[in-house]
Amino acid sequence: MMKKTVLAFGLFILAVLGIGYVTQQKPAQQPVQETKKIVKVGVLQLLSHPALDAIYKGITDELGNLGYVDGKTMQIDFQNAQADQSNLVSMSQKLVSEKPDILIGITTPATASLANATKEIPIIMGGITYPVQAGLIASEEKPGNNITGVSDRTPIKQQLELMKKVVPNLKKIGILYTASEDNSTRQVEEAKELAKALDLEVVVKSISNTNDIEQVTEGLASDVQAIFVPIDNTVASAMATVVKVTDKYKVPVFPSADTMVKDGGVLGIGVDQYKIGVETAKVVVAVLNGVEPKEKAIVLANEGVVYINETKAKALGIDIPEEIKAKAIIVDKE
Ligand code: TRP
Repeated sequence: MMKKTVLAFGLFILAVLGIGYVTQQKPAQQPVQETKKIVKVGVLQLLSHPALDAIYKGITDELGNLGYVDGKTMQIDFQNAQADQSNLVSMSQKLVSEKPDILIGITTPATASLANATKEIPIIMGGITYPVQAGLIASEEKPGNNITGVSDRTPIKQQLELMKKVVPNLKKIGILYTASEDNSTRQVEEAKELAKALDLEVVVKSISNTNDIEQVTEGLASDVQAIFVPIDNTVASAMATVVKVTDKYKVPVFPSADTMVKDGGVLGIGVDQYKIGVETAKVVVAVLNGVEPKEKAIVLANEGVVYINETKAKALGIDIPEEIKAKAIIVDKE
């Protein structure tokens, strides 16, 4: 009797262990697969211009530094919409259908298009000027959805003050921007108010696309002493055309990105575009490691560094005060 009970108990234990063994088999194999898993990243960029290309380079370089190497531990699908709205839509759908671990939007329109395509996959913004006003997130402290990332807002007031210091007797400025770019429209509204407070008369002119930029710049340059350009994608992609016209009238251009100063502006206050990419990559990795986008505050890449193109300033006969130069980065010399 006693022996039987022991035997039955023994069999019972074996059975339990057996079940345990079987149920453990699967989980025991999974971690091996997980360490081999390649992280899938989808990137959507509105178009190519030096600023956006620098952001993308900053992203891939920093991801590499952090252990995510394209083709090895990570697989990037990079899509460039060539400034075409229908491309943005189809490319967003394609990227989402590939079920990536994470998405990156470079520019406001690209991020907005990704946001339309998925409410689940995390989307990291690479240099978005006004993410709240563009309707991408609820607040900069707490986005509240699947979107977070880096903003590249610049201090417009300081930019206008610098223009006054650099251009003698500055009374009348022009503002050049693209009507269809949400990010620019906001900056222009802000700039108009700030200019008034600084006793500057303002002439605002918008372009539809790169086709009318030469003609619109001509109208503006013939009428003002200096031109302010916000963080505008279309103008950034056609700086050569803008500068060709403004040079003819000897009117200095004051843009809002280091790359645009290098492309023929005189002086600008803003952020190193490559650094925006580096900061974006850091957010990507934080989210891959489990930080929730809805709780992750926006990073402001706003350092307020002054960039100067000395060659252009000299060519236009502009003397930049030493006090400004001392703290600035000269971008026309490599
Ligand atoms: N901030 C722009 C946007 O929200 C994109 C951008 C980033 C940009 N860096 C730039 C545009 C420099 C012009 C120049 O769409």
